[in-house]
Amino acid sequence: MLGIDIGTTSIKAVSLSRNKNDVSLLAAGNIPAPRVNPDMVAHSDEQVIANTINQLVHDMKVNSAGVAVSLPSYKVINQVIEIPEMNEKEIEQSIQWEAEQYIPLPLSKVKIDYSVIGRNEATKKLKIILVAAPLSLIEKYMRIISLTGLNLLAIETEILASVRSVVHSLPTLANIMLLSVGATNTEIALIRNQLLIYTKSYPIGGNTLTRAVSEELGFDYSQAEEYKNTYGLDESKLEAKINKIVAPFFTNLFSEIEKTIIYFKEEYLKEEIMTVVISGGTAKLPGLMLATTKNIGINSQVSNPFINIQANETVLNSLTADAPIYTTSVGLALKEI
Ligand SMILES: Nc1ncnc2c1ncn2[C@@H]1O[C@H](COP(=O)(O)OP(=O)(O)OP(=O)(O)O)[C@@H](O)[C@H]1O
Ligand SMILES: [Mg+2]
Repeated sequence: MLGIDIGTTSIKAVSLSRNKNDVSLLAAGNIPAPRVNPDMVAHSDEQVIANTINQLVHDMKVNSAGVAVSLPSYKVINQVIEIPEMNEKEIEQSIQWEAEQYIPLPLSKVKIDYSVIGRNEATKKLKIILVAAPLSLIEKYMRIISLTGLNLLAIETEILASVRSVVHSLPTLANIMLLSVGATNTEIALIRNQLLIYTKSYPIGGNTLTRAVSEELGFDYSQAEEYKNTYGLDESKLEAKINKIVAPFFTNLFSEIEKTIIYFKEEYLKEEIMTVVISGGTAKLPGLMLATTKNIGINSQVSNPFINIQANETVLNSLTADAPIYTTSVGLALKEI
């Protein structure tokens, strides 16, 4: 399977092969994303994206049997709901009705999916995570892959793919917080017993930080990007100039994380979140991992989706620095059809 993650700044692709429980890396690569309207309204944008994907796949020299592509999480509604105890068939019949209360779009315009994540012992109700994606968005991604000539086998939300990859790399940890920080969006997600049980997205990301550095210091964008990527949250360099600009964003994020932890503790008394995994390009921000550990009080780590995947050592070494950006695409490629 070839997993393709179309981001704002770059398109990432990972090709994996599976032999029983052994997963091997065939190729991984990324290419700058073409500058298109973020909503890809124009059909010409779809062709430009398709051409870029073809360029990437060509450079990776892979022949893929099938493709899985991700939808940006912030365009998809993910909501944990509780419904009366019922069997699988009854859920299927009533899910539309249940969903209607939570989805601000006509049901004829969304595709609804769900999975049972547990049971609330106090209320004796079933906990379900509801996923609702606009049909227009799904159709757009189908058109893009169809324009590439590749064989589309699956479409899923970015965060679900990332969860699969985190679970695959850390199979023994029961409760994990995933912090996915890309260019334009950030997601906080909770994984319990290998299932996504909570997710929320925030419209900030690495590009927000770069823009702030650029505005505050009067740098052009690419210079600001370089300063941000070099100094990040480091307080010991440049009189902590970059830190002072960037840190407030994380103060806000950390307080959202605190709220998420409180939610987790209320739902699952006596359970602990063992680690915070940071994925996406901003995971590489100098000092972010330490700041997260320090502020949240939970040991944090940068995502390495290539753990537990077999690969040639030279290839792996060349990918290590970029590992966190491949979290979603590895998760997509791990999807079993
Ligand atoms: N060394 C680094 N330090 C800090 N930030 C970095 C570093 N390298 C890249 N970034 C940031 O990572 C972001 C890109 O990450 P990623 O590839 O995960 O985003 P994307 O998938 O293109 O965007 P999105 O998912 O938000 O649409 C950019 O904002 C970039 O500035
Ligand atoms: Mg992304």
